[in-house]
Amino acid sequence: MLEVSRLTKRYGGLVAVKELSFSIRPGEILGLIGPNGSGKSTAMKTIMGVEAPSGGSIRLDGVEIGGLPSHKVARLGVGLVFQHSRPLQRQTVLENIMVALLPDRLTQLFAGAEVEARAREIAQRVGLTRVIERRPPTLAFADLRRLELAKAIARHPKLVLVDEPFAGLTASEVADFSALIREFRDEGRAVLLVDHNVKGVSALVDRVLAMYLGEWIAEGAAADVMQDETVRRVYLGGALTRVARPEADFGDSRPLLQVEDVGVLYGKALALQGVSLHVHEGEFVSLVGLNGAGKSTLFNAISGLVPHSGTVRFGGDALRGRSAAAIARGGIVHCPETRELFGDMSVRENLDLGGNGLDDKERGERLEWLFELFPILRSRQAQLARTLSGGEQQMLAIARALMMKPKLLILDEPTLGLAPVILEVLSKALERLRATTPISVLLGEQNVTFALPHADRVYVLDHARVVWEGPPGRFEDEAGAAYL
Ligand SMILES: Nc1ncnc2c1ncn2[C@@H]1O[C@H](COP(=O)(O)OP(=O)(O)OP(=O)(O)O)[C@@H](O)[C@H]1O
Ligand SMILES: [Mg+2]
Repeated sequence: MLEVSRLTKRYGGLVAVKELSFSIRPGEILGLIGPNGSGKSTAMKTIMGVEAPSGGSIRLDGVEIGGLPSHKVARLGVGLVFQHSRPLQRQTVLENIMVALLPDRLTQLFAGAEVEARAREIAQRVGLTRVIERRPPTLAFADLRRLELAKAIARHPKLVLVDEPFAGLTASEVADFSALIREFRDEGRAVLLVDHNVKGVSALVDRVLAMYLGEWIAEGAAADVMQDETVRRVYLGGALTRVARPEADFGDSRPLLQVEDVGVLYGKALALQGVSLHVHEGEFVSLVGLNGAGKSTLFNAISGLVPHSGTVRFGGDALRGRSAAAIARGGIVHCPETRELFGDMSVRENLDLGGNGLDDKERGERLEWLFELFPILRSRQAQLARTLSGGEQQMLAIARALMMKPKLLILDEPTLGLAPVILEVLSKALERLRATTPISVLLGEQNVTFALPHADRVYVLDHARVVWEGPPGRFEDEAGAAYL
């Protein structure tokens, strides 16, 4: 159904996709894997006509579609689920799906009853019926991803391109999404799937193609490709090592961060209730919880971004009444799940903003260290942040936070969109940082394979409350059921 041959995409001097060839049959799921920045999203965008190819050919059922504008590609039967959700924020879920269904003729801009019925059918199919009258800003993360899927399948595409459907989803949500994608296949559609959840991809796809630096490096059954020497070296990396220290090792009489009985209400919805936790100086604490459990809300409360009841103390001082800016300058640096990069500024400008409070010498040293950690950022200093790949943006967000020399670093879902090999880099960097500086870390994750190995102590947040606390060694037996 899809035949891509010698596809090439250049951005100035950078070759994002280089002479890539592959094909997909009807009723087949092809997985596309590769490290961050290897050209996976770019390949999808050129097939969809969002980007014009610089060379090569793309055929759909024998018809050349390379270089066609995306609305024509869509009409010919291709749908793309983007890596980032971008719904219409002021329309309901139902309306968002209806927009995708509208015929693209000016004389028929108004939706009839049959369009609404069809939209409801699609919502039902992807599991959005519960929230069909809500607006996107109030939706849980997984529901936003469901909405993207709904929009992409609205027009019955024969080829579905899915970019990172599993990122940020929990194990059971991944299973739900996999079932949906399997249905597409069973209906005879062709599916091209990109994701860094290696387990999720391996279980779902019929075949895997691995890319590196824009080029094809291996292809075949998932199990074989994952064993491939090059794929292991450039993409999978090694296992993370465990390094927990008992709480008694932290001799400070008063923890650096003390959260006492914190509660947050969004309107009538209880987002946090009676949450207490602490982080000692030098300690690494992981806060584990499913999507919607309240992790980001807690971090926002600590950072002074949402009003809350209860007390947050840092170095013994209550933070109530301080602005978010004052809290950040005081040493609590928060790297949010949504990254909040300045998209129209360059990589270097984003980093310099983080290092604004440092003197020139210190800023230079910091920058050098971060460039060693994430070499891609060094070579892309002049690139606009919004044109970076998903994983490159995540690296920049973490690096910018580290530029601020945090006393307490709050990382909210840092693994989102990062290739396994980069997790290993980040893991080692955090280890080295802790060995050489007095930094403390509070990490929020639903991905326990990353949250556990580093943690000295773990809290589990469930439905707005802390339901478990203990060392990572006990987590598996006592609290791991929903996460492992
Ligand atoms: N408009 C652009 N200008 C310059 N470089 C770009 C542009 N768009 C993408 N790139 C670069 O092209 C390379 C490939 O990006 P792409 O988004 O395809 O990577 P990816 O494989 O999807 O990575 P990830 O897994 O991190 O999402 C990246 O290094 C990215 O920075
Ligand atoms: Mg991508």
